[in-house]
Amino acid sequence: MTLYSRITGTGSYLPPHRLTNADLAAELAAQGVETSDDWIVERTGIRARHFAAPDVCSSDLGLEAARRALQAAEVDAKDIDLIIVGTSTPDMVFPSTACILQNKLGANGCAAFDVQAVCSGFIYALSIADAMIKTGAAKKALVIGAEVFSRILDFKDRTTCVLFGDGAGAVVLEASDTPGILASDLHADGKHVGILCVPGHVSGGNVLGKPLLKMDGQAVFKLAVGLLDGAARTTLAKAGKTAADIDWLVPHQANIRIMQSTARKLKLSMDKVIVTVDQHGNTSAASIPLALDAAVRSGKVKPGELLLLEGVGGGFTWGAVLLQL
Ligand code: ACO
Repeated sequence: MTLYSRITGTGSYLPPHRLTNADLAAELAAQGVETSDDWIVERTGIRARHFAAPDVCSSDLGLEAARRALQAAEVDAKDIDLIIVGTSTPDMVFPSTACILQNKLGANGCAAFDVQAVCSGFIYALSIADAMIKTGAAKKALVIGAEVFSRILDFKDRTTCVLFGDGAGAVVLEASDTPGILASDLHADGKHVGILCVPGHVSGGNVLGKPLLKMDGQAVFKLAVGLLDGAARTTLAKAGKTAADIDWLVPHQANIRIMQSTARKLKLSMDKVIVTVDQHGNTSAASIPLALDAAVRSGKVKPGELLLLEGVGGGFTWGAVLLQL
């Protein structure tokens, strides 16, 4: 029986349209919404984000990221036996974005489904793929986070519309005799639904409720820091490790201040934290694999190093994955 699942390739993709804070502030000013580069950088650490063109969907972004991950892993799409896509901005109500992406990729026939855990979507998807590989249900999985959050932003609400971006990240996860994913930890608490949600649904051919992102930023901030610390410690303990053993923390890229608080609680220097929120904004389920791929391709993160991936998001959902690259 296979003991481990291992990441053998990473990939990511950002749509070409990049907006700096100044670009976004100018667009918002034209609609009477006031913001500034200074405010956004100071409160969030974000300097730029990418927005997809109107005809581009999560499956398109995820497809590019998946192709790059497959190329890095030297795996043929036809050999993939499982595709899991973490997304809160699916192409359609159904079928899943994973099925649409699978067909575009030419991996027809393998198991494919979406995971809806908002910003924890990639952590959830990776844990599920790991479990399926360890039980023998799959051997070569594509785990993808793909989002077009620009579609669900309320551009009249300056407290949220400056925070998010579009993009996708992917990994190839393969059965292996060597580590590998060492431990993971997943949680949710539905009593916090109201502090971060898109409260709309389809009914009788109409959209009922307001299908735009709404958030109580301060409540999310306070909750996120404590939950991330708990998940990090539990995951490390499951593998008999401590924070001192971590080479790199690859956190969900929501806000630099959340990342700094999490690192401080774990007594980790910010030199050990992968940060891409400045260039990507918050890309929800795509943020962790985007950050991971950027770190791998820049040579910062190296094979054999110990990585702690952690995410938190609407639901509330949260979790962490500890792995040796
Ligand atoms: N530009 C200029 N001014 C703004 C903006 C903006 N974009 N947004 C809010 N302000 C103003 C407010 O109106 C307020 O003005 P007032 O004092 O005159 O009323 C002032 O700035 C302070 O507003 P707060 O909401 O108190 O600002 P805060 O310091 O809490 O920062 C933020 C807001 C950045 C959202 C913060 O609460 C936060 O980081 N929360 C975490 C949420 C997060 O990162 N969510 C991501 C999604 S969840 C996830 O991924 C886990």
